[in-house]
Amino acid sequence: MDVLDHWHPVLPTSLLQPGAVVGVRLAGNDLVLFRNSNNEIGALIDHCPHRRMKLSLGKVYHDRLQCGYHGWTFDATGNGESPATPKLYACARHFEVLERFDAIWVRNAGADSQFPQFDVEGHYNVCNLYHQIKAPLELTVDNFCEIEHTPTTHAFFGYPLERMHEVEVEFKPTDTSVRVINRGPRKKISLFLRTLVGIGRDYVFMDDWTTYFSPVYSVYDHWWQCPKTGAQSRVRWRLYIFFVPVDASGTAIFTFAFTKSRYPGPAGGARLFRWLMRSQLDYEIGLDVKILEGLADKNPSIEGMKLSRFDRVLGLNRERIERIYRGNGVH
Ligand code: FES
Ligand SMILES: [Fe+2]
Repeated sequence: MDVLDHWHPVLPTSLLQPGAVVGVRLAGNDLVLFRNSNNEIGALIDHCPHRRMKLSLGKVYHDRLQCGYHGWTFDATGNGESPATPKLYACARHFEVLERFDAIWVRNAGADSQFPQFDVEGHYNVCNLYHQIKAPLELTVDNFCEIEHTPTTHAFFGYPLERMHEVEVEFKPTDTSVRVINRGPRKKISLFLRTLVGIGRDYVFMDDWTTYFSPVYSVYDHWWQCPKTGAQSRVRWRLYIFFVPVDASGTAIFTFAFTKSRYPGPAGGARLFRWLMRSQLDYEIGLDVKILEGLADKNPSIEGMKLSRFDRVLGLNRERIERIYRGNGVH
């Protein structure tokens, strides 16, 4: 399987208004996206078949993408026309496109991959976020798949450093996924947030996620619960985080955040505090972006790292990234 056979989110919808032409990079490939006045989106390789101009420097003209060099135009499936040579046949490679959850997704035309399943029944889509990280895919996934960094890197979310040794971690790998369940004493949280989220004084923090590999993404469930009765916080959330390689040294992060709230009213009142969740989540992911920029060595290999009890997931993920995502058949 080719990496581009998987469905990847490549651009937030808001960045491609009708008439817009935007270049994006995916796994080292340059693509151009355009949206015409009928709201149709085209995704082509960013390379004009005539004399190799970047199509992303062109414009939408009569609902087609027009190359900026000699004015040849292309439709969403890459069929080209030349104003100067009307009978000429030219074709630019195109990709399949979907628009879901405020993002534009692409894959190789004719690929046989499933669109990722969003299991969000009873949840409310609070926000969708987009970040870019200057680190390769594997090192980015490493950061998002262990909680040992949460005491020092994160503000609200995770576990306190002085009680990190009490945190339990459990790994549940399958052939195609890796689940990690963490449970431990919670961080100090302001009384305002504790009351709002419904976190009891002695509640523990639960972080339970599963990583999938077509494409590479993790689904996180976060909540707080009473260790004795099992009672849960009034609000919990489910995050779908997609790790999209831009090239060998950069990764884009697409976060789709959903909450489940037991407050009365539509969406459990989530509309009222979505601004708070959005800014908090954006801030926390920004902290991951920042920490990853400080890596001394951005080689994605785990060779030579001294790994902790939380890091078993690094090897499990890498094996599946190689075999399922890159299709290299390593086992
Ligand atoms: S290079 Fe694109 S039209 Fe000539
Ligand atoms: Fe993090």
